[in-house]
Amino acid sequence: MAEVRPFWLAGRPAQGTAELEVRHPYDGALVATVAQPSAAQVEQAVAAAAAVASQLAALPAHVRASALGHVSREIARRGDEIARLITAESGKPLTWSRAEVARASSTFRWGAEEARRFAGDLTRLDTDPTGEGRLALSRRFPRGPVLGIAPFNFPLNLVAHKVAPALAVGAPIIVKPAPRTPLSSLLLGELLAETDLPAGAFSVLTVDNDVVGALVADPRLPVVSFTGSGPVGWSIRDAVPRKQVVLELGGNGAVLVAPDFHAPGDLTRAAGRIALFANYQAGQSCIAVQRVYVDRSLHDELLGEILAAVRALRDGDPSDPATDVGPLIDTAAAERVETWIGEAVAAGATLHCGGTRTGASVAPAVLTGVSESARLVREEVFGPVIVVAPVDGVDDGFARINDSAFGLQAGVFTHDLATAFRAHRELVVGGVVVGDVPSYRADQMPYGGTKNSGIGREGLRSAMTDLTEERVLVLTGLDL
Ligand code: SIN
Repeated sequence: MAEVRPFWLAGRPAQGTAELEVRHPYDGALVATVAQPSAAQVEQAVAAAAAVASQLAALPAHVRASALGHVSREIARRGDEIARLITAESGKPLTWSRAEVARASSTFRWGAEEARRFAGDLTRLDTDPTGEGRLALSRRFPRGPVLGIAPFNFPLNLVAHKVAPALAVGAPIIVKPAPRTPLSSLLLGELLAETDLPAGAFSVLTVDNDVVGALVADPRLPVVSFTGSGPVGWSIRDAVPRKQVVLELGGNGAVLVAPDFHAPGDLTRAAGRIALFANYQAGQSCIAVQRVYVDRSLHDELLGEILAAVRALRDGDPSDPATDVGPLIDTAAAERVETWIGEAVAAGATLHCGGTRTGASVAPAVLTGVSESARLVREEVFGPVIVVAPVDGVDDGFARINDSAFGLQAGVFTHDLATAFRAHRELVVGGVVVGDVPSYRADQMPYGGTKNSGIGREGLRSAMTDLTEERVLVLTGLDL
């Protein structure tokens, strides 16, 4: 009989009372069978997290940092094995799984570094006669155990973004991986179990989504950090308005190619980046390029370059290192993308390439003439689709980018510093990338959205702020 992979209960491997099958999105092959915890085991994990919270918060920084450093190094050392695991459970092309492994190693390394740096502030109080001889010292302390709920699209690195900052500040964490992609989280559990962290510091609970409501409501988990779909994220926030809820939700990533961006090679480079980052991991990234607004004077040339770049992408088996575009997470996701493309075309859009579906795979699609009210524009496609539209200058471009319910990241191709600073000020998003696509993310930088894209920020330092609260210590009678 095939091995049933254990989940992690308070730092130890455990078999459960049910099982979950993980299947390869490309060919449906069984990748692994995973144990699922019983209600009693979930309770044990939460109780253990609550019990260890003050011990973990008091753990010296070097102990927390060294645990995170160990995980970072082991991810790098076992990189090839882990990349293959990511590809097998998510269908992500191997080349992108390798990139995710490198990023996850960096996320934990940054966690280790920030754990050493995270200190506090001093405020003078002798600014008034009543404050003479007094000093205020502010430090941040964990709000308490964290419930980290992760999505399928980055099964390792978006889990790393829950675990590393939590452990860096000394907060226990319960990870709830996406049911389709639990294997990378379980492997992370293995690496964490090799460290000196106390029992209860982490659990990885491979529960079904219907168990999440009870975990979210549990008062022993005062922080919920969720990455996933908007409706689920906002329902969590509405269910527990008094908890600290951090939401990393969707986007409909937009690019503006400004009228000044036409030096030799500019449009070829912009098109290459757009084609690649609309289709990486089949568009299943919240910051994948979806909407491309280009100044009317450059529209036809850019469209031609994008089509050439998209046609050069290789789709197929994600385990082949030469594959650029693999399947979506499942056939239902691919059918949804196919339907949205069909709706846009039925309403008058032109489909220049792709859009055909085979099982869970959709051939990369490029459309023009798409109505601004189409779901391909208004919603998050989360699939390999680019919608190109002409705009009349920077003002129009900014207005079109901002005409969205989402606000995660935007890319602005310009050489003009004034346009860059205007974009920073006027685009209502969590991040603006100048000279590149919105899909650029460095794991140490603040990352998150506004509007329907969420609240709070990831990026190690920012997440550590969100997971902690400031407490002031007033010292009196000092001879300053
Ligand atoms: C996301 O899809 O929200 C994460 C994107 C990334 O980490 O690159």
